[in-house]
Amino acid sequence: MKKQLFRKELAQFQPYVPGKPIEEVKKEYGLTEIEKLASNENQLGPSPLAIEAVRKALDDINLYPESTAVDLKADLAAHLGVKPENLVIGNGGEELLFLIAQTFINEGDEVVVASPSFGIYNTTTSLLGAVVKTVPFKNKTYDFEGFLEAVNENTKLLYICNPNNPTGNIVTEKELDDFLTKLPEDVVVVLDEAYYEYAVVDPDYPNSLKYLESRPNTVILRTFSKASGIAGLRVGYLITSEHIAAEMNKAKLTFNVNRLAQEAARGALKDQQHIARSVELNYKSLDAMKKFFDEEGLDYFESRANFIFIDVKKHSKEVFEALMRKGVIVRPGFFWGWDSWIRVSTGTMAQTEKFISCLKEVLKD
Ligand SMILES: Cc1ncc(COP(=O)(O)O)c(C=O)c1O
Repeated sequence: MKKQLFRKELAQFQPYVPGKPIEEVKKEYGLTEIEKLASNENQLGPSPLAIEAVRKALDDINLYPESTAVDLKADLAAHLGVKPENLVIGNGGEELLFLIAQTFINEGDEVVVASPSFGIYNTTTSLLGAVVKTVPFKNKTYDFEGFLEAVNENTKLLYICNPNNPTGNIVTEKELDDFLTKLPEDVVVVLDEAYYEYAVVDPDYPNSLKYLESRPNTVILRTFSKASGIAGLRVGYLITSEHIAAEMNKAKLTFNVNRLAQEAARGALKDQQHIARSVELNYKSLDAMKKFFDEEGLDYFESRANFIFIDVKKHSKEVFEALMRKGVIVRPGFFWGWDSWIRVSTGTMAQTEKFISCLKEVLKD
C-alpha cells in the first residue's frame, strides 16, 4: 500500500487564497490610492509609545526573547487584575487558537462553533482530527438552544466570538450567563474577545473575567492587533485558569513571541489614550456608515467591533470587485455563505467617506 504522506485531514482543506497585494491592485486598475478596509486593522496607526519601545528594543535583537514574556505578563496581570499565572502570550491570537486546539484536541473530539463566525476555529481543530459541529445563526445572533443540542459527552471545545466576526454583534452578559449555567462544566468555552476594547463601551457586554472563578474551563482570547494597532508585530493573549494556562504553556513554542513584539505590546498597553482615541474614531466611522445604510434601506448588524456587515442586495463578489476597481478593498460575504453581504472595516473619516461614496456608485450601477 502506498504511504500516505500528508496528514489525512489536509485532504479536506482548501488552499488559503490571500487578497491581491495592494501594489498589484494599483497597477491592474491604474489607481494611485487604495483603501484596504478588509482586515479590521487600526487605521489610526500604532501608538507612539509602541514605536518608541520597539526602537529601544532593537539594540538587543541579537538575544532571544523572554520565553515566558515575563515583563509583558506582569504588566498585563496588573492591568487586568489577574495573576501572571492566568496568562498565555502568543504570536497573535491566531497562534493561540492553534495552541488551544493542540492543548485539547484528540482525534474524534467534538467542537461546536457558530456560523457565520471566525473560520480559524474550524481549521485549527479539524486539522487535528476534531469533528466540528456548526450551529447557524438564528434571528441574526447565536442560537444558544442549538448550541446546547449540539453538545454531547464528546464535546471538548465551544467557541463564542464576541463581538462576532464577521457580523460584529455581541452576545450580552445576560445571554452568556444564562447559557453558561446550562452548559456542562467539562466543556471548555473559548470566548474570543479580539475586539474587546471596542465592545466594552457597551454596558451589556459581558465582564468575562468573572468566569475565571465561577467556571474554570473558560479561555478568554484578546489581542494587540485591533484597538492597540500593532497587528504587524503579532501579539495576543489568553486569560484562563492557572491549571489550563500551565498546560498550554507546556505545549507552546519556546520563543513564540519576538522581542520587538513583547516590548511594543508593553508600550501599547501603557497608551490607553491611544486606545480610547481608536475607539472614538471607530464609532464615528460606524455612525457615518450606518447613516448611509439607513438612507439606502440596507440591512446590517449592530456592530460593537471595528467593522460592519451589510446586506448590499447584490452578489458580494460583484460588489467586492466593483469596489476594488474604485480603490476600496472589503471582504465579500460569500466566503461565509452570506452571498449578498459584505464586511467593511472602519477607518479614518476620509477612508469612510470614500467607501460610502464608492458603494453609492456601485449600488447605482
Ligand atoms: C475574531 C478574531 N479572533 C482572533 C483574531 C486573531 O487576531 P491576531 O492573530 O491578529 O491577534 C482575529 C483577527 O482578525 C479575529 O477577527
